[in-house]
Amino acid sequence: MALVTTTEMFKKAYEGGYAVGAFNVNNMEIVQGITEACQDLKSPVVLQVSKGARAYANHNYLVKMVQAAVENCPDIPIALHLDHGPDFETCKACIDGGFTSVMIDGSSLPFDENVELAKKVVEYAHAHGVVVEAELGTLAGVEDDVNVSAEDSSYTRPEEVEEFVDRTGCDSLAIAIGTSHGAYKFKPGTKPQLRFDVLEDISKRLPGFPIVLHGSSSVPQEFVQKINAHGGKMPDAIGIPEEMLREAAKMAVCKINIDSDIRLAITATIREYFDAHPDHFDPRQYLKPARQAVKDMVAHKIVNVLGCNGKA
Ligand code: G3H
Ligand code: 13P
Ligand code: ZN
Repeated sequence: MALVTTTEMFKKAYEGGYAVGAFNVNNMEIVQGITEACQDLKSPVVLQVSKGARAYANHNYLVKMVQAAVENCPDIPIALHLDHGPDFETCKACIDGGFTSVMIDGSSLPFDENVELAKKVVEYAHAHGVVVEAELGTLAGVEDDVNVSAEDSSYTRPEEVEEFVDRTGCDSLAIAIGTSHGAYKFKPGTKPQLRFDVLEDISKRLPGFPIVLHGSSSVPQEFVQKINAHGGKMPDAIGIPEEMLREAAKMAVCKINIDSDIRLAITATIREYFDAHPDHFDPRQYLKPARQAVKDMVAHKIVNVLGCNGKA
């Protein structure tokens, strides 16, 4: 199967009451860990690349690694997506350079400017067979070099979504309902909450339209504890409870973005490994279990959170 857009996978996910995982990729082991889990479980997947990933690993390396994964996983649809495209030029570079989906993130702009920017990207993308995710509402947390405080974040306003989708022609919409980027999503001692009423309202206004949730790592405490037990310092790291994401996946949410949990799986595994094997210095020795940890974590998400096993 060649690289695909997200159109068909989102349609099936919407109708089937599940979501597709969108996992951030930055190196070979991450690409392999994710796609091996998806291949084993016959699960569709979005591999997403941020501006920071392109700066770290280089566009060509990432595209070629994803193409290699497509060849190695013949049974599953894989989409290659630009995560948080910051401007038209970056989206164009990815559209011209082999991606099948791009996100234009104008969520920090005033409504009309967000519309204009997204519309421009949609026109170029659609002319080249590529789909576009846009965003309304602002998530808290850290992404690339942008840090949005909880006070500056804002939920998506349901009354704006129809006009936004109509005017931009975007193919999916990322919304803010209380998820946030990074490993510190809720204050310790507070009850994690998502605004399912906002999601419900939005989905009624956009029947059949795929909704995207960013900032959806669950920050598994086994990883946090392992990191802290082996020299790390991540007190009070808290994520979105898995059962809330499962609920969202049954609703209009068709794409769930996960990056921090990959970072935690790798870091926990390598920290533990170094403690146990202080004399080892061959990267293959510690990257192998790290890759396996990514694979195990993704398999867990597919079965217990996304519900997309067997949906390839
Ligand atoms: O939403 C942000 C993703 O976790 C990507 O993070 O920009 O540091 O690559 P990054
Ligand atoms: P997390 O930080 O919760 O993994 O979110 C990732 C994300 O939204 C990528 O766009
Ligand atoms: Zn995001």
